[in-house]
Amino acid sequence: MLTNKTVVLGITGSIAAYKAVDIASQLTEAKAKVKVIMTEAATQFVTPLSFRSISGEPVVTDMFEPKSEFSVQHVSLAEAADVVVIAPATANVIAKLAAGIADDMLCCTVLATKAPVIIAPAMNVNMYENSITQYNIAKLKARGFIFVGPAYGRLASGKMGWGRFVEIREVVDTTQQVLRRGSDLAGRHIVVTAGGTQEPIDPVRHIGNRSSGKMGYALAEAARDRGADVMLISALTALPRPVGVELTEVRTAQEMYEAVAEAVAEADALIMAAAVADYRPMELSETKIKKETATLTLKLERTPDILGDVSGDFIKVGFAAESENLIENAKQKLHKKQLDLIVANDITATDSGFGVDSDRVVVISSDGKADSLPLLPKRQVADRILDKVVELLAKR
Ligand code: C5P
Repeated sequence: MLTNKTVVLGITGSIAAYKAVDIASQLTEAKAKVKVIMTEAATQFVTPLSFRSISGEPVVTDMFEPKSEFSVQHVSLAEAADVVVIAPATANVIAKLAAGIADDMLCCTVLATKAPVIIAPAMNVNMYENSITQYNIAKLKARGFIFVGPAYGRLASGKMGWGRFVEIREVVDTTQQVLRRGSDLAGRHIVVTAGGTQEPIDPVRHIGNRSSGKMGYALAEAARDRGADVMLISALTALPRPVGVELTEVRTAQEMYEAVAEAVAEADALIMAAAVADYRPMELSETKIKKETATLTLKLERTPDILGDVSGDFIKVGFAAESENLIENAKQKLHKKQLDLIVANDITATDSGFGVDSDRVVVISSDGKADSLPLLPKRQVADRILDKVVELLAKR
């Protein structure tokens, strides 16, 4: 139940706007106070009366409407919100939010709010895939905006593609989750590692791996949004630097080891999402190795096992990327490295794991309990992992 919670529901000009009536209805049924803001374009698709009837609350459509209870204090909704949900969100409103434009009541409210913002996009596939839209979405994500969808499916144009509004249930569930979590990590220090380390061979070459860093960054951002002080120790990635997170950039496994060893002194939890090289060249050539011989042998040595070596009074979470015997191998690692949790990931799946935005994982705790999660966006996987970290911290 969402008693005493205020949800500001923003509706923009998409054909999916009619679905927002059901979202307003379900949130009202869950006892939330639903304050609807519609853009002018949204009113072309559904009438404000529908939302007023469902929510029992006034609906704002015009910043300068004299009868509006919010007209005097244009930021009062921003302050009242426990969460802002924009569903459906057009490419246009996403672009405006990414640029910090505040030329209507909805954008004004988002710019002024300190509440979490959930965005469920709905648009034409070409608009969605346009690099400008993708850039805007990445920019908002880096600032902690939570995206739900879009989904793949039939679009208003009749074509199939990405851009379809997600199932209503997903928007309502995410809203419930965000409200429930609130700031359950406030005052906690969380250390997250991300990305794939690189082990130099010579001045231009290295041994690397396919990790994109997305899971670690999603964890860092999710922990930040739940109130934690986050230290992100990242190997090189192509991801934007998350706002509100302390970032230490490293390159090699040894550098990551040193950064982690220092950071855990104050940590409540260490989450090692980084793909750390297990071996490094024994010798680093100071000059570029020339292709003079038919074969070349590199002698490798073990790197430190960061997770296995660090210890202290903090929750230890590891990842296990496996291509066979997923659960069995993950459990072995959990015991060997004395972890509280291990997140097992089948890297042979194409829709999950390296480089992609989604993951299907099994979270195993030290008592052997295994929780198989469905295919979820990495940000949602991150929150599910943090739910378990919160539980473990409460038990300590
Ligand atoms: O043993 P394996 O490399 O599969 O274990 C994976 C887990 O251990 C990950 O959480 C990874 O970040 C961590 N790890 C580590 N130091 C290493 C290798 C892996 O901390 N040298």
